[in-house]
Amino acid sequence: MGFPVVRPRRLRSSETIRRLVRETVLTVDDLIYPVFVAHGQGINRPVESMPGVANVSVDVLLRELEEVAELGIPGILVFGLPAAKDEYGREAYSDDGIVQRAVRAVKENYPGLLVVTDVCLCEYTSHGHCGLIKDGTVDNDPSLELIARTAVSHAAAGADMVAPSDMMDGRVGAVRAALDEAGFNQVPIMSYAAKYASAFYGPFREAADSAPQFGDRRAYQMDPANADEALREVWQDLEEGADIVMIKPALAFLDVLYRVKQETGHPVAAYSVSGEYAAIKAAAERGWLDERRTVLEILTGIKRAGADIIITYHARDAARWLRQG
Ligand code: PBG
Repeated sequence: MGFPVVRPRRLRSSETIRRLVRETVLTVDDLIYPVFVAHGQGINRPVESMPGVANVSVDVLLRELEEVAELGIPGILVFGLPAAKDEYGREAYSDDGIVQRAVRAVKENYPGLLVVTDVCLCEYTSHGHCGLIKDGTVDNDPSLELIARTAVSHAAAGADMVAPSDMMDGRVGAVRAALDEAGFNQVPIMSYAAKYASAFYGPFREAADSAPQFGDRRAYQMDPANADEALREVWQDLEEGADIVMIKPALAFLDVLYRVKQETGHPVAAYSVSGEYAAIKAAAERGWLDERRTVLEILTGIKRAGADIIITYHARDAARWLRQG
């Protein structure tokens, strides 16, 4: 008998065979599309470092969502650009804050679209940190009340799910308790459970105007070198009532994503962040990468690693490509 007997290539010989044995199939059902909403009318301000992404006013957002809904993308993640920033991030939890307005308008026009809100203070504080500042550091416990208040005001505006991204200790428990007390015990929490202090958030800080005005976020976001710690963060959030746990960024943390899915079995989201998007867009613009193939390969890889949900700025393009087949 000639060598080799086992020939893996037999199952790669045609697209029909490849389709039959394919293990991971990316679909539009996996995707959430992040949006950046600003006050005003007719605003459509491109984010320079994220081609295809813009700050939009509510009216423009509603027009854009027509395509998002038509493509069958299940949900959006809403970020807000406030009219004014202050030390306490007041617009974050104001009933007529930009996110609250956007949520009301989107739910009125697209009741079937899942509206998830990012719950954080950094876009709303004058210092750009995710909590209150005391003696030059972010003061954990007093920040919790404002974060919880923000989540409740999003739910009151009609948000289907809230996603706290501040990385304060105990925030999931605080948000859960506040939602329950306000009558929103059916609103799930998707916690940014393992959120790393990453260089890949660079372009987002332009998009959301949320760069810290002093220091950095390493005293509250995780050290990229740690994976066991991510498991502890995840279990803690689950114990505090998180319904979905998120790993962020995605591509440099696929091992963490894999372990979290394997070890918890809970629904897991991966956030393919602004820098991951910007890098691909930049290379594709230069003709150095085939954008469609690269994006679909990466998103499939994120799903293969264990993500049930992928939050990505490529969502619209990916949904279009997946439809074309
Ligand atoms: C807010 C927040 C950030 C992102 C999501 N929520 C920025 C940060 O922590 O600095 C990053 C998203 C992205 O880069 O696409 N805390």
